[in-house]
Amino acid sequence: MRGVILRETGKPVEVTDELAVRPPGPGEVRVRLRAAGVCHSDLSMCEGRLPARLPLVPGHEGAGVVVELGPGVSGPPVGTHVILSWIPPCGSCALCLGGRPNLCVSVRPPSSTVTVAGEPAHAGLGVGCFAEETVVDARAAIPIPDDVPFDVAAVVGCAVLTGVGAVINTAEVRPGSSVLVIGCGGVGINVIQGARLAAAAPVLAVDQVPEKLEAARAFGATHVATPDELGDAVRELTGGLGFDYAFEVVGRPATIRQAWQATRRGGTTVVVGAGSRDDLVTFNAAELFATERRLTGCLYGSGDVRTDFGRLLRLWRAGRLDLEGLISRRITLDEVGEAFTAMGSGDVIRSLVMF
Ligand SMILES: NC(=O)c1ccc[n+]([C@@H]2O[C@H](COP(=O)([O-])OP(=O)(O)OC[C@H]3O[C@@H](n4cnc5c(N)ncnc54)[C@H](O)[C@@H]3O)[C@@H](O)[C@H]2O)c1
Ligand SMILES: [Zn+2]
Ligand SMILES: [Zn+2]
Repeated sequence: MRGVILRETGKPVEVTDELAVRPPGPGEVRVRLRAAGVCHSDLSMCEGRLPARLPLVPGHEGAGVVVELGPGVSGPPVGTHVILSWIPPCGSCALCLGGRPNLCVSVRPPSSTVTVAGEPAHAGLGVGCFAEETVVDARAAIPIPDDVPFDVAAVVGCAVLTGVGAVINTAEVRPGSSVLVIGCGGVGINVIQGARLAAAAPVLAVDQVPEKLEAARAFGATHVATPDELGDAVRELTGGLGFDYAFEVVGRPATIRQAWQATRRGGTTVVVGAGSRDDLVTFNAAELFATERRLTGCLYGSGDVRTDFGRLLRLWRAGRLDLEGLISRRITLDEVGEAFTAMGSGDVIRSLVMF
């Protein structure tokens, strides 16, 4: 089958017809991909900023159809439309039972599901969506209604759950809270529409690319600024007090510091951006205790894929989330490398591979 492969970090991805998936084993299903979004985490894995095993089939934001069940697997049945979850909750560890399934401690990618020219390869984040088919843990295949278009379903699989979830699950933003969002890409735009959903105000969007700020306004930012203008905007919008919540959606030490710096005493900084182990962020001991500012990570929108995918699709059906508007370009597998390059450009929120 056809798919994208990364052989060496820092090198361009290649497209090959020499991929093959093995049949699903016990606890697994085979899924035929119909749509897959290009997330910055894929690019970071290919660049070596996030860990990845090579050779890698990237892609973790996908939707498709179940085509085969492994031995003894009871479902989802063949023909079911699914969104793939890059964290399949086991349902029985202490964290799953404690209501934190995104932090499941039993997540292990299925072993050697895919080969390239007969040699073992690795499916990115256990799902490897930039290929025509994938074999995944059955718990990673989350059923959705048949009438949901696959493109809309795919973006829910990472950008929407992560971004909207950061607001409504991780931070639990209350109406009228002031919100700052740094980074207005595919995930950041969903933080912004999550803030709109939560009736936050003001919602200040910051990005270094001015065109991204137009999209930010369209998705619910009440104010926009470039990084240079951030200081003035904090003074103007919060009287110098700082924001109740700041969401960092870039994954860099400097922007994490900026987000923290822009929150009020007792405010909360949510780090959504996925930074590298080598990037150090510095806090002095005094600022951590004396201002009661809070700093928290956010993995996969602190969501429960078993219920949140459906919840987000209901909000989309009701017109409260714009999912079609996230899809800027529809591409083929051959154009994934170009889509990585295009991530920085102003006219792209999400590029979507259509199969
Ligand atoms: N926490 C999670 O579970 C999770 C899930 C998905 C993605 N991510 C991470 O979220 C981040 C965003 O992903 P994305 O797909 O939206 O990426 P993206 O490339 O679409 O968007 C990043 C945005 O940040 C902007 N930016 C870059 N440097 C900036 C700076 N110094 N100041 C202001 N803006 C700046 C870019 O112009 C761009 O608009 C990435 O780090 C990604 O790996 C995390
Ligand atoms: Zn992602
Ligand atoms: Zn678990």
